[in-house]
Amino acid sequence: MPKPISIALLGQKFMGRAHSNAWGQVGRFFDLPRPVRLATVAARDAAELATFAERWGWENWTTRWRSVAADEGIDLVDVGTPNHLHAQQAIAMLEAGKHVACEKPLAGNLDDARAMRQAARKASGRTFVWFNYRRCPAVALAQRLVAEGRLGRIHHVRATYLQEWGGPETPMSWRFKKAQAGSGAHGDLNAHIVDMARFVTGQELVEVGGALSRTFVKERRVPGTRKKARSTVDDSLLFIATLSGGGSASFEASRVAPGHQNRNTLEVNGSDGSLAFDFEDMNVLRFMDAADGPREAGWRRIMCTNAEEHPYAGAWWPDAHVLGYEHGFTNMAADIVRAICRRRPEAPLPDFEDAWQTQRVLEAALVSARERCAVPISQIR
Ligand SMILES: NC(=O)c1ccc[n+]([C@@H]2O[C@H](COP(=O)([O-])OP(=O)(O)OC[C@H]3O[C@@H](n4cnc5c(N)ncnc54)[C@H](O)[C@@H]3O)[C@@H](O)[C@H]2O)c1
Repeated sequence: MPKPISIALLGQKFMGRAHSNAWGQVGRFFDLPRPVRLATVAARDAAELATFAERWGWENWTTRWRSVAADEGIDLVDVGTPNHLHAQQAIAMLEAGKHVACEKPLAGNLDDARAMRQAARKASGRTFVWFNYRRCPAVALAQRLVAEGRLGRIHHVRATYLQEWGGPETPMSWRFKKAQAGSGAHGDLNAHIVDMARFVTGQELVEVGGALSRTFVKERRVPGTRKKARSTVDDSLLFIATLSGGGSASFEASRVAPGHQNRNTLEVNGSDGSLAFDFEDMNVLRFMDAADGPREAGWRRIMCTNAEEHPYAGAWWPDAHVLGYEHGFTNMAADIVRAICRRRPEAPLPDFEDAWQTQRVLEAALVSARERCAVPISQIR
């Protein structure tokens, strides 16, 4: 029996649950080169931690995340805390020789992201960033189709990530504080679609412009009080960009777009065809092959659940049984284990170097919105 990879998780709320589920399930569905061990969970809420640890199968829990760095039994640290903590936690763990899998965005600001990238360059451990949508079978298939040249020369990328939960009734939290989140819908949602666009096209964004940032809800109720506090982040941010292959791209993120609950969409148009993904119909990739000719031209609706043909599908249920949100995280956990064991992941994994490129694009869009100008990515260092 190979030695298990011992994991420590930082954070126990939304992502804490998603990641705990992934680490708990991954060995049941995937044949892994090494098993995983859910060793320790660290977070702030002592009153909830013991129950959380028991429910999700963590052997130990602590409110002192730094003790994880000192624990020689831990191989991989999974960072699922608010954005302002990513740099200090990830860097401490890398310096202690651990592998680190960090939530997105890489950091709340460029300085933190740069420090993380530098720490990763010096570290013996591997780094990973949870851009989980890469691991939806439909998105991974889109990446393969583009890499195989099925779309020809890429003309356009059109990406939106629209949600509706950020109205005035939503109370204050770290997500609306610049010091903790870095930005609002931008870092939260544009981070995903910028990563997806880079992943699917295999191209970089070389210039950003036309960015518009809006904060519609200026103040929010502070939970447990009658007070209101100022929101210091954007509710929406859109921008345009130039791809390294010369194509054009647009990105729009919003938390205040009623009717769009979790509308993460990516459309790519090339000289030879187009493809389109919508997370609200996540098992489907739409594909249009211009070679079909005018008689039969149209969008195909590919349900990406075939064990032989579709990434990750073979690990799960018999063909045609659809997957959900949580499967992307489990698919990523499987690829992280493979990468640590020097096996090939099913789809390319983003490390800190890769996520740094996404962070530069996000920063360029903030500069463009603030200064009302075009910003070459080469100026963001
Ligand atoms: N990949 C995705 O689709 C996705 C979705 C949601 C959130 N995220 C990212 O995951 C991260 C966490 O977001 P969330 O929604 O889980 O937040 P959350 O507010 O639900 O949970 C944050 C957790 O961090 C813990 N925490 C806060 N301060 C801490 C400290 N000083 N030491 C130890 N633990 C501390 C809290 O106890 C809590 O358990 C963010 O970076 C966010 O951008 C990613």
